[in-house]
Amino acid sequence: MSDKITAPKLRAMKQAGQQIVSITAYDSTFGSLADLAGADFILVGDSVANTMLGFESTVPVTLEQMIHHTRAVRAGVKRALLVADLPFGSYQASIEQAVTNAVLLMKAGAEAVKLEGSYPETISALTLAGIPTMGHLGMTPQSIHRFGGHKVQGRGSGADRILAAAEELDKAGAIGIVLELIPTDLAKRVTESVTAPTIGIGAGPHCSGQIQVLHDVLGLSPVGFRHAKPFMNGRSLILEALGEYSRQVRCGEFPTSEHSF
Ligand code: KIV
Repeated sequence: MSDKITAPKLRAMKQAGQQIVSITAYDSTFGSLADLAGADFILVGDSVANTMLGFESTVPVTLEQMIHHTRAVRAGVKRALLVADLPFGSYQASIEQAVTNAVLLMKAGAEAVKLEGSYPETISALTLAGIPTMGHLGMTPQSIHRFGGHKVQGRGSGADRILAAAEELDKAGAIGIVLELIPTDLAKRVTESVTAPTIGIGAGPHCSGQIQVLHDVLGLSPVGFRHAKPFMNGRSLILEALGEYSRQVRCGEFPTSEHSF
């Protein structure tokens, strides 16, 4: 792996037929590991709400929290493009609000931002301000209360709405469009209709790339999701290590002279 990934490179990767690999990270340790493993872009996702902060949805996450985590991930990432989520309530009220808040994420070290929903004018304005912006359509978690749960979107008449929204975001200059929990054939249609790369999560194999939540890939989440695949059993490995540490302290096996001065 070489060459710093930049926002324009994502579109070029789609044109070259190269699959884009992305994963979330919330701190410098895992940002650095994801970078070393070759992720093309790393998302400081507002899923930090569920994975790190113990919230039930992404709705409570604040801009200050996103800035804090963006700074931390920045410290660990060198090659990958660093994208940060604009959290719920930080961009919907006006274009001015979106630009002001996106600037704060960029000053914290992001190289692009992502926002959820159909906001083409906002994406145009952010792009004009020098802020590469990614869209996010389908099951957009910040709208969980409107959807009534994590439900697949874009079935039936909803498909044309998602396709039209994607075309608008594309024209507005989106550097990519995350497609979350939509049928495989719709994701394929969107991918073929836009020049921006589509990044799927629960959207099938025909997207220009895939994104996953770090904790799902590492098997740290207590529950499994159909759209995710654990690539290791992190939860039991960590529990085993922490249990062994406790056992050794309690029975005097640790520390030994090897760990003492
Ligand atoms: O915050 C997040 O984790 C996301 C997903 C699309 C990966 O936005």
